[in-house]
Amino acid sequence: MTILYEPSRQVAQHFAMLVGGDVRTAGSLAEAHALLEEDPDEQLVLFGPNTPVLEAVGFAAKFRLSRPSLGVVLLRHQLEVGVLADAIRSGVREVADVNDPTSILAACARSQDLSRRLSLGGGRAQGGEPTADGKVVTVYSAKGGCGKTMIATNLAITLAAGGAKKVCLIDLDLTLGDVALMLQLQPERTIADAVPVADRIDETGLRTMVSPYCPGVDALLAPVVPTVAEQINRELITEILYLTRSMYDYVIVDTPPIFNDHVLAALDSSHLYLLVATPAVTAMKNLRILLDTFDVLDYRKENRLVVLNRADPRLGVTPADIERVLRIPITSHIPVSRDVSVSINRGVPIVLDSPTHPVSEAIRQLASKRIGAEPTTPKGLKSLMSRRTKR
Ligand SMILES: Nc1ncnc2c1ncn2[C@@H]1O[C@H](COP(=O)(O)OP(=O)(O)O)[C@@H](O)[C@H]1O
Ligand SMILES: [Mg+2]
Repeated sequence: MTILYEPSRQVAQHFAMLVGGDVRTAGSLAEAHALLEEDPDEQLVLFGPNTPVLEAVGFAAKFRLSRPSLGVVLLRHQLEVGVLADAIRSGVREVADVNDPTSILAACARSQDLSRRLSLGGGRAQGGEPTADGKVVTVYSAKGGCGKTMIATNLAITLAAGGAKKVCLIDLDLTLGDVALMLQLQPERTIADAVPVADRIDETGLRTMVSPYCPGVDALLAPVVPTVAEQINRELITEILYLTRSMYDYVIVDTPPIFNDHVLAALDSSHLYLLVATPAVTAMKNLRILLDTFDVLDYRKENRLVVLNRADPRLGVTPADIERVLRIPITSHIPVSRDVSVSINRGVPIVLDSPTHPVSEAIRQLASKRIGAEPTTPKGLKSLMSRRTKR
């Protein structure tokens, strides 16, 4: 079934005919909401050409987390780049040209196919639902250069414990990823390989995309050509994270210093948010703003871990000062040391290069005390799962 929201009755009729099947039409946004509430299994809402873009944007953003399998497709007379970008960023799956019936039908079909795969009734369930037990940890900071990639790489190696556990390190800094460089891996296989098979990616396929690094650690590297990032959408990342969770004990996600769609997809699927800050006023301010954003997005407080990197007692900023400003406890202090840069320049992560170093010790403590603890359910997956079990 499809909900079609379009104020003009005549236009609504035209598109209802085009889409075919069981279409319920709404003349107002309130009506569309009411129709959606009536059917918790509804998977597609089509916004007609006479609906305000902002309504579609708000609608998609509202249901992005609470109903991840619901697709929103927007029909427009003109496809302006700004409109497209805003819509897609908010969670609209496709924007189709009203004058191109083939592309409208294709957009609806793609959205419905994705919805099917995201919900229990989809193809994956029939083929055997993977047991997604791995823990997803996203390492994030709104600022560059504070040590995200250093922490993500060393943490992945530490958690693998020489091969006792399986860890997938994903480089989501899709335009400027440094994981390959830090691990001295040749990016022959990257996440870009997932683009042509985005609608049918499976475990076997994923195994051909990762680069083995050391016992227990595989890396899914960033594309070599930065423009490929544009072809990687939120659904693909959600899919990859769901799949990797079923294949690995831990999935560590390294991120760019921006709050983009890729980061949101990772955060939505994460059990733990590892937020990196340095003891600098600007980093503190950025982290405070980020924590406020997390509140709005409803990312649970108990799943937030703040890691203070380059902790330096000589700076005069005490951890107590920082905790007071941020109103959140600091989980881990990683000391400042030029040996970190030396290890990065040598291409050997410090936990391997110098396992007894205080930086390696701090990362081990973080891994064993906080990340190895009992798993919790990630926000996005929780809503997905509860919908699945209801069926
Ligand atoms: N604990 C530390 N002590 C000293 N230098 C560090 C430390 N952590 C990171 N660095 C330096 O900061 C640089 C940036 O780290 P990186 O992990 O690439 O940051 P991000 O991924 O957040 O941009 C590294 O090249 C390294 O030289
Ligand atoms: Mg980085």
